[in-house]
Amino acid sequence: MPKTAVVSGADHGLGAELVRQLADRGYTVFAGRYDKSFDTSGENPVFLPLDLSDQASVDSFAEAVSKRTGSLDLLINNAGVLGDMQKTIRDRLDRDDIRRVLEINAIGTLMLTNALFPLIEKGTDRLVVNISSEAGSVSDCRRVGWFGYCMSKAANNMQGALVHNILRQIGGRVIQMHPGHVRTYMRGHLDTTGRLTPEQSAAGVLRTVLDTEIPCGDRPAYVDFEGKELRF
Ligand SMILES: NC(=O)c1ccc[n+]([C@@H]2O[C@H](COP(=O)([O-])OP(=O)(O)OC[C@H]3O[C@@H](n4cnc5c(N)ncnc54)[C@H](OP(=O)(O)O)[C@@H]3O)[C@@H](O)[C@H]2O)c1
Repeated sequence: MPKTAVVSGADHGLGAELVRQLADRGYTVFAGRYDKSFDTSGENPVFLPLDLSDQASVDSFAEAVSKRTGSLDLLINNAGVLGDMQKTIRDRLDRDDIRRVLEINAIGTLMLTNALFPLIEKGTDRLVVNISSEAGSVSDCRRVGWFGYCMSKAANNMQGALVHNILRQIGGRVIQMHPGHVRTYMRGHLDTTGRLTPEQSAAGVLRTVLDTEIPCGDRPAYVDFEGKELRF
């Protein structure tokens, strides 16, 4: 029986590569696409519409997945947005921008895990990978801006810890993942300063979470795409 996986934010960038490489590894992949103009037909990967800021969309996505599979081995919460990167505490902050980033990166991620949890519990691996960021580390915070993004990824780390505390009781786990600095369009244009291509980052992420023995402890592992440990 092929293993099953869900990846959110699979329109392009890291998400699209994770989907492609998981299918290459033999997974049946259900991929959430935000842009509704994309063609969502197909056998494997199965592309389905998903907007993490809309609960009805999250619920319909989970329902569509559960019509196609009775269990899920792997959930990769990849979808995310960046928001403002410039403003510091000296500037007038944009409340709506910060709220939107928190809504998608932290609350949306949690709500998708919540909607898919009955399937995850029935899976063999019960693995949830949250594509967080080094920006979510409070211990190693060195920025003076990126309020929405850093706060949302710290909250993402916390929701991951709460989910991990249930999953580890049934042989599963959560991994909080920093995928490296990747050349994607997250900044609204191709970020050519990124060290990694989406292909390289996705390969590292999958190698780390699927092929490496990362110890499963009381807290979720918080690691980068090469398995290097980060501090919460
Ligand atoms: N790139 C990096 O250097 C880097 C570093 C650390 C962490 N990350 C994390 O890696 C993940 C992937 O980012 P990326 O770099 O590949 O950027 P990306 O290409 O912009 O990918 C983000 C994906 O999320 C989708 N998305 C946006 N709003 C959504 C919503 N409301 N509901 C569902 N999906 C939504 C995007 O769709 P549209 O593009 O169609 O809007 C896109 O498919 C993110 O969680 C990001 O925070 C990236």
